[in-house]
Amino acid sequence: MASFKILCVISILTHQLAFLANGMHCRKSLVPALYVFGDSSLDAGNNNNLNTPAKANVFPYGIDFNNCSTGRFNNGKTFADIIAISLGLPMPPPYLGVSEIERYQVATGINYASASCGILNSTGDGSCLSLDKQIEYFTSTVKNDLPRIIQSTTKLRHYLSKSIYLLSIGPNDYMLNYLKNNPMEPNNNLNPEQYANYLIEELASRIKRIYDLGARKFVINSIGPVGCIPAIVIRTPHSEYCNEEINQKVKPYSEKLPGKLHDLQTQLSGSLFINLDSYNFFMKIRNSPQIFGFSNVWDSCIQGAKPCENRKEYYFYDSAHSTEAATKIFAEECFSGTRLCFPYNIKRLVHAH
Ligand SMILES: *[C@@H]1O[C@H](CO)[C@@H](O)[C@H](O)[C@H]1NC(C)=O
Ligand SMILES: *[C@@H]1O[C@H](CO)[C@@H](O)[C@H](O)[C@H]1NC(C)=O
Repeated sequence: MASFKILCVISILTHQLAFLANGMHCRKSLVPALYVFGDSSLDAGNNNNLNTPAKANVFPYGIDFNNCSTGRFNNGKTFADIIAISLGLPMPPPYLGVSEIERYQVATGINYASASCGILNSTGDGSCLSLDKQIEYFTSTVKNDLPRIIQSTTKLRHYLSKSIYLLSIGPNDYMLNYLKNNPMEPNNNLNPEQYANYLIEELASRIKRIYDLGARKFVINSIGPVGCIPAIVIRTPHSEYCNEEINQKVKPYSEKLPGKLHDLQTQLSGSLFINLDSYNFFMKIRNSPQIFGFSNVWDSCIQGAKPCENRKEYYFYDSAHSTEAATKIFAEECFSGTRLCFPYNIKRLVHAH
């Protein structure tokens, strides 16, 4: 078991280093790099190295990832992994999973995402990487690591401006904070509209810091209807209800985010933003699951520590995270479709200035 895990890690790193050996100029990737910030939806193993209960480095996570439990919170690849592959890049390795000596060798993107964390410092279960911490690590990547491979400041600026920055964060600011009335957060007395404004302002100030380091092309995930995840819905078999009270509290965020991203794009010269509208796209799948190939969009595939057999037909892998099958639909749609990512898909973002 332990040796098998080491093998997984080695094969992932070998893949990473094979890319490096090709050199900076001979890659066939569409962009230089993909940098990833977020929570468990994108964590690829950072939390394995932290003192937190929010870890996924045990079976049955990763059953369809060579049966390797890497710390990804589903049966296979994350959204970031699939987007990286579509861009012709290796899957960005978790920042805390790469040794300090290897860090400066990774020029194709790094994943700072950390399960259970959120936009706010007060969100989190144990010692996860807050978005502030993730940006602090990215700052170190830009200031200490990348200049060792890309020595020319002009080239580094070009590299950073052509790369893509994916952020998927926020649900935990509701589930582990606002909806729980976490006493550590002084703003939990706000109403849902005000709380959404507050979160979005906090997010925007952090996006600006990433921009100031040289990032220009952003893909920002909204927050889905968390009132529909199995952990929240207590349903009788085959009922199809969500917790609408919770959905209504979360919804203002996804309604307000596009306007804020539009404002940011106006303010921050040369920036481009994609809003990933997971709220409405989830509802689309929910309303016609068969069209998307799902027979179950309500229950966790894992029941009693055992994964279901027909994982391609389940939307949820555990009680809060989607299966690789569902993730793949989101990734393909955002990469080249028209129904999830606005004002255009990632393929267009690649070619926009
Ligand atoms: C995957 O790994 C688990 C735990 O190590 C093991 O019990 C299971 O039999 C493996 N499954 C497959 C399909 O190899
Ligand atoms: C959040 O924590 C970071 C350290 O990780 C700190 O630098 C920052 O000032 C904190 N922000 C707030 C609003 O407390």
